Amino acid sequence: MPQVEMNDEMMEAKLGEPLLSVARRHAAHIGFYCDGNGLCTMCECRVIEGADQLSPVTDIERNWLPQQRLDEGYRLGCQAALRGRGTIRTITRAEELRRQLQAVLNPPEGTTPNDNVRPFVRNMVAVNWQHIGTWPFNWLRTLQRLGLARFVWPINNPDLFMRDTMRITARMLNGGTTITVEAEARPNLLTDGAAEK
Ligand code: FES
Repeated sequence: MPQVEMNDEMMEAKLGEPLLSVARRHAAHIGFYCDGNGLCTMCECRVIEGADQLSPVTDIERNWLPQQRLDEGYRLGCQAALRGRGTIRTITRAEELRRQLQAVLNPPEGTTPNDNVRPFVRNMVAVNWQHIGTWPFNWLRTLQRLGLARFVWPINNPDLFMRDTMRITARMLNGGTTITVEAEARPNLLTDGAAEK
């Protein structure tokens, strides 16, 4: 069984499972406004180790992420699926930005707020630039792929969407100490064709 270390926490995962699905099952700090439809980029993760254990970069990711961002290891969690049994180490963009902001507000010993502002601002600019820099083709291609109805309302499973949102929010509010791993199958969150290496 593949292992995913996400936001410094080991998580069990299934072959073919997208990183977003792993995160949602474990209530990890991640965004998914478009419910995995490749529209919002809120599920972006930086892969620190084990990039070769993931499926190749998709056209959807190329629509949204500039090459430099891909070169830095960023992937969309709803597109990058597990295809190998090796360990993957990653941090979600939501958590990375939270930590960077935290470092500005409460600088670690030996650092000043100024030291910590730069990585936070750089990341924020990169996040916004990836939308502006690829505009309008990112939206047009997504609209073409999804169709107008899905583009306007991309949520696949409102019930599961709400439950996962509540679990993640609850976990953030209580300091991240409670993990609830749901055991039920979530076939709609597994990708087809993510072959085992
Ligand atoms: S969940 Fe929206 S792009 Fe991945």
